[in-house]
Amino acid sequence: MTIRIIKGNIISAPEFGRIRITEHGYLIAADGKIKGIYQDLPQEYEGLAAEDYGDALVMQSFADMHLHGPQYPMIGMNMDMPLLDWLNTYTFPTEARFKDKDYAKEISRKLAAELAANGTTRICMFSSIHREGTLILMEELEKAGITGFVGKVNMDRFGGADYQETTEESVSETIRWLEECHFDHIKPVLTPRFTPCCSDALMEKLGKLAKECSLPIQSHLSENTGEIRWVSELHPDCSQYWETYLKYGMWNERTLMAHCVWSDEREQKAMKDAGVWVVHCAASNENLVSGFAPIRKMLNGGVKVVLGSDIAAGDKLSMFENIASAVRASKARRIMDDWKTDFLTIPEAFYLAASAASAFFGDAPGFAPGNSLHAVVLEDDELPSAKPLSVMERFERCIYRRQANAVRAVYSEGKKIFERE
Ligand code: GUN
Ligand code: FE
Repeated sequence: MTIRIIKGNIISAPEFGRIRITEHGYLIAADGKIKGIYQDLPQEYEGLAAEDYGDALVMQSFADMHLHGPQYPMIGMNMDMPLLDWLNTYTFPTEARFKDKDYAKEISRKLAAELAANGTTRICMFSSIHREGTLILMEELEKAGITGFVGKVNMDRFGGADYQETTEESVSETIRWLEECHFDHIKPVLTPRFTPCCSDALMEKLGKLAKECSLPIQSHLSENTGEIRWVSELHPDCSQYWETYLKYGMWNERTLMAHCVWSDEREQKAMKDAGVWVVHCAASNENLVSGFAPIRKMLNGGVKVVLGSDIAAGDKLSMFENIASAVRASKARRIMDDWKTDFLTIPEAFYLAASAASAFFGDAPGFAPGNSLHAVVLEDDELPSAKPLSVMERFERCIYRRQANAVRAVYSEGKKIFERE
């Protein structure tokens, strides 16, 4: 048995809104699974080598539950249009480049390295429509020690001349891709891009495939008002957008829906009742002028909410930044709601980024015994402070402010996947 003993200020989010801190404590894992958090080293581990990080913060690493790998080279650019124009003008041509395997490999390798270096160890990611590019992306993530799900995108209409498949191609390439997936830590997720880009025939076949192969599903929902109008024209039999996914058997407890900015009470209740996950992408929602999602209302109503960077409509890969974006967006939402909804606190938003997706991966929130070890070690000794800070204050600050090269080490499924030189 391989024992890993990590020493430092251990920080985790065992419940929504609650941070557990064990100062100068021990986080111990056996064969990659957490045994527990201890103030003092249990006798049975005495004499074993510890990885001692001194006064550094040892916290849960992050799950980025919605991002687009092939959009990685576009980060920081092209955020001057709303969703539908942005897709046609910039995004589809950028994703089309993933047909080139050498290019796909280079982009995927850089993306995987940047995720690891920022403490994102779990992902749920869209690839492009290309089977081979998707397998390359999965392989590079796997090699970098990232874990989670990646999907070959399905779209058989409204992608323009250079970026769409026929219905038959979309289905047969997806089946072939599923047969060729052979990774230990990166698994397939079915990925209809969003309702407008998938014909009824394609949606029907994907719904059947999801059921037959027992696959999770990811897509987009109610991000932009123009998009919602378009969906209602395409599916006049559906009274709301979400019903287009329900109609084809893609609305269940393993469905992740990104954005949900304009989901009203009825749509929120449909999510709660079916156990559908909302992926909140606050930075993206501002960049594409989509709106401010009613996250507090969803949480109060018992909807499962997780966070996504939504690269490249989102402009920051680091989940530290995306936690800050979620908090800021919740403050804007409070203003919109006549000060009636509470904004997210840092402990709440950290929970959404670090713990809320645990159940999707078969774990419990926090550093719970039995969980796979996913952790990030952060140093802040070079930052100025006007008084001695508590570990809680240092934790809250690190969401907004980190020194250069603050990430000292990152662990994913028990393995150290990043170490600062
Ligand atoms: N809706 C359909 N495709 C996309 C995408 O690539 N990004 C975002 N933000 N929304 C989408
Ligand atoms: Fe997206």
